Amino acid sequence: MDLGVKNSVAFVSGGGEGIGRIVATMLAQEGASVALADREPAALEETAKEVRALGAKALTFQLDVTNCFLVSNRASWITGQTLSVNGGYSMV
Ligand SMILES: NC(=O)c1ccc[n+]([C@@H]2O[C@H](COP(=O)([O-])OP(=O)(O)OC[C@H]3O[C@@H](n4cnc5c(N)ncnc54)[C@H](O)[C@@H]3O)[C@@H](O)[C@H]2O)c1
Repeated sequence: MDLGVKNSVAFVSGGGEGIGRIVATMLAQEGASVALADREPAALEETAKEVRALGAKALTFQLDVTNCFLVSNRASWITGQTLSVNGGYSMV
């Protein structure tokens, strides 16, 4: 499959478990770096481990994605952190 995400950075909310984890590992297999957001730190780290085992880069952000104030405040920080993954990015 070619989703056209090679060398992109994918932001996956709820990436700690379930559908989010599956999406994150699929995107990693497709050559994307993955920025993971979830409320649960242990789940985040487990997904990040799986993503890295596939040879892709993973960053983790513990946050509640329904808290708009928190997300908007951290958005520029997340983007900055994400930028450092590849020295440039195309966000999906
Ligand atoms: N439409 C459908 O047919 C269908 C089918 C399955 C799932 N869903 C929906 O898709 C979503 C994901 O399903 P799942 O089974 O992977 O869910 P899940 O309950 O396993 O959650 C996945 C991850 O999201 C995280 N999470 C939940 N709320 C969060 C928040 N506010 N901020 C940050 N992280 C949060 C959890 O900590 C968990 O790690 C759910 O909303 C579910 O209802 C829809």
